[in-house]
Amino acid sequence: MTNAAITGWGTCMPPAVLTNADLATFLDTDDAWITSRTGMKERCVSHVPALELATVAARRAIACAGLEPGDIDLILYGSCSNGEQVPNSASGVQAALGATRAAAMDINTACTSFLYSLSTASAMIRTGVVRRAVVIGVELISPYMDWSNRNVAVLFGDGCAAVVLEAAESDEGLLGERLGCDAEGRASLRVRGIGCVYANRDVVLGDTLWDFDGQEIFRRAVRGMSQASAAVLEQCGVTPDQIDLVVPHQANLRIIEAVVGRTGISMDKVMLTVQRYGNMSAATVPVALTEAVETGRVRPGALVLMPAFGAGLTFCAHLVRWGSRVTPLAVSEAALSPSPRTALEMVNDIRARRASTSARSAAGLQADV
Ligand code: ACO
Repeated sequence: MTNAAITGWGTCMPPAVLTNADLATFLDTDDAWITSRTGMKERCVSHVPALELATVAARRAIACAGLEPGDIDLILYGSCSNGEQVPNSASGVQAALGATRAAAMDINTACTSFLYSLSTASAMIRTGVVRRAVVIGVELISPYMDWSNRNVAVLFGDGCAAVVLEAAESDEGLLGERLGCDAEGRASLRVRGIGCVYANRDVVLGDTLWDFDGQEIFRRAVRGMSQASAAVLEQCGVTPDQIDLVVPHQANLRIIEAVVGRTGISMDKVMLTVQRYGNMSAATVPVALTEAVETGRVRPGALVLMPAFGAGLTFCAHLVRWGSRVTPLAVSEAALSPSPRTALEMVNDIRARRASTSARSAAGLQADV
């Protein structure tokens, strides 16, 4: 049987870091509250567009696999913060990479977008539609954040990572997954005004409304991720003690602790990035997975469990068997330019812009988006 092996991996993290102390300069919050309720200390703010993050991460993953962009048959762009809907974002990455043979598709299931994309690419490889795919998880949240809302502003960060999947006859790659959607909880997690959909309609671009019921999300996230984890372990005939590493979605450290506890796995088997990056939505799992490989936490043949949830409320759990290689075949020189401004300066610019568009909106003027 043909499988979809993970043969390349790469991140692209923006260099500018926003600390809890930075947030406290303009929000009624503090490091103690954020740390105790979420586990977060820092998050990144990007000075470049999401397409640039995605292109650098994809170049690194393609080089890691020992391939060239022209070898790629499919690019999947997992995200919910696309700057445009038409044309799609994957085609922008295809153009920037020069991957002219590649089909290009966006997938949006919010924070689970990378893992749903992993399912899609793996299925297309298994069925012979394509042989080599780049799967990207990327999110540029900072421009759309309501930085005056402390309930959500402290939770998120920007970031990106990508993996390369290749057809292989060996027993590796995605062994099984459970995908689901708890749509009864749909209204508990909404962001109106993100992307272009609502621009010039009821919500202008940049004037987003974040409707979150944090405790409801928390409960449903724990339930969805735990049930999906149990289901995929049973489906694959794997017991919790056989899992080598858990790479979960990282919306909150307490959610992660609850999920792995219910699944019967100890926290020392969990790859955590939530302290340094916060919740990067679709980018969270691939960034944590790549950093786990790069720091030696993924050994050849490792069984890796990846549970996640997102708006919808979509949820899932994926079980992957890593291959024999945990080192890159080559290293790309692709890199971001240094950030000319600090994260706090960029956030303060966004806040000022938002105050100005809100004022114009209130005055009944059309925003010039
Ligand atoms: N700083 C200080 N106080 C705050 C802050 C803040 N940043 N945010 C909220 N508070 C206040 C609240 O206003 C509330 O005050 P009140 O009691 O006077 O009303 C108090 O702190 C307690 O709020 P709770 O909601 O009880 O805090 P909780 O322990 O539930 O933690 C949190 C809130 C962190 C949002 C938690 O519910 C959570 O993590 N929920 C799920 C996470 C989430 O929604 N992530 C986004 C998901 S998106 C995705 O990944 C798909």
